[in-house]
Amino acid sequence: MSDGLEGVVAADTVLSEVDGQAGRLIIRGHSLDELAGRTTYEEVVRLLWDGFFDDLPVDLGPALGAARLDVFGEVTALDTGLLDRTPIEGMRALTARLADGDDLAVALRLVAAPAVFTAAMVRAQSGEAPMRPDPSIGHAADSLRMLRGKPATRAEVEALDTYLVTVSDHGLNASTFAARVIASTRAGLTSAVLGGISALKGPLHGGAPGPIIDMLDAIGRPDNARAWIEESLDQGDRLMGFGHRVYRVRDPRADALKMAVRKLTEGSNAMPGRLAFAEAVEAAALAILKERKPDRSLQTNVEFYTALLLEALAYPPSAFTCVFATGRVGGWIAHAREQLVGGRLIRPQSRYIGPQPRIAA
Ligand code: ACO
Repeated sequence: MSDGLEGVVAADTVLSEVDGQAGRLIIRGHSLDELAGRTTYEEVVRLLWDGFFDDLPVDLGPALGAARLDVFGEVTALDTGLLDRTPIEGMRALTARLADGDDLAVALRLVAAPAVFTAAMVRAQSGEAPMRPDPSIGHAADSLRMLRGKPATRAEVEALDTYLVTVSDHGLNASTFAARVIASTRAGLTSAVLGGISALKGPLHGGAPGPIIDMLDAIGRPDNARAWIEESLDQGDRLMGFGHRVYRVRDPRADALKMAVRKLTEGSNAMPGRLAFAEAVEAAALAILKERKPDRSLQTNVEFYTALLLEALAYPPSAFTCVFATGRVGGWIAHAREQLVGGRLIRPQSRYIGPQPRIAA
């Protein structure tokens, strides 16, 4: 048996290919380089969903805008109990209020949900009224507008689109596998997405970027990096933003997002010196991981520069995982539909290694 199902192929997919040796990601026939920074999130969702819904419009924008308005009605359910939770728990609870089903209307509401509910949670937690969606603008633009209460700049919208496209799909990662297992029982897309959100929130998966900001803040200065990292590893901690189950070389998404951070912050007063500092920490971390684990190539993963990009976009670190879900939800739904169309119930076996009954039956 393979520990953690490493190397096990559990589905055929037309959606994305993660080539761990070459450090390459293909999304529906396009390399990540072709898509990141060049397409909007709506366009990449359209690409992922093509062939999985009969009535898919050529331009998803208007329908997705209408879906944002539609799900905004659920925001009234944000009560003090939910506001005490983390943004991802609050966002998941509101998403769970949406009806289950397998059609396009359900799918669009599920893509709208993380954007609308994350902004509402973050604003409500800081005592501000949730902002009503504007269906006439793009998904990334409205996500930032709902968060801040005012329009974002074009550069910020492009940066968020780049992020959402970059994380939209990534083979059979833990949250996508969870979503596919649920879809295989015919439970419905809402159930599959809720499973995806729940798997994503763990620190070994999509929960890593928030703690990366804590790490950078704790290190404080480049010349502190080595000592801090050594001490953290001596305590048995894992360095967030490094290592990957599939990539044995650098995660290509890390470079796409680093470029996006550079583009967003260069020439502006936003976070002066932050990128150079992060690069110094990254270099120290890679050197130490190489010394300590010479047999396992541990490289920078998507989360490291995710943290910097979302910080530059003024998302609070507590909400970083919600923004990841805002991008990955399009992929979860595509995989759920692919599973429904051509897949069987996913039901592997376990091997019993416990004691046998003392009295034979
Ligand atoms: N820091 C320190 N040590 C590490 C790290 C790390 N980031 N990653 C792996 N290792 C160590 C493991 O402890 C293990 O050591 P051991 O054999 O002495 O126990 C060894 O390297 C091998 O680990 P892998 O088999 O490569 O790790 P695995 O495939 O099980 O886990 C994972 C991959 C969860 C991403 C891991 O690298 C990790 O915990 N990274 C930090 C969390 C993180 O950044 N998560 C986001 C991943 S990207 C995403 O999901 C979107």
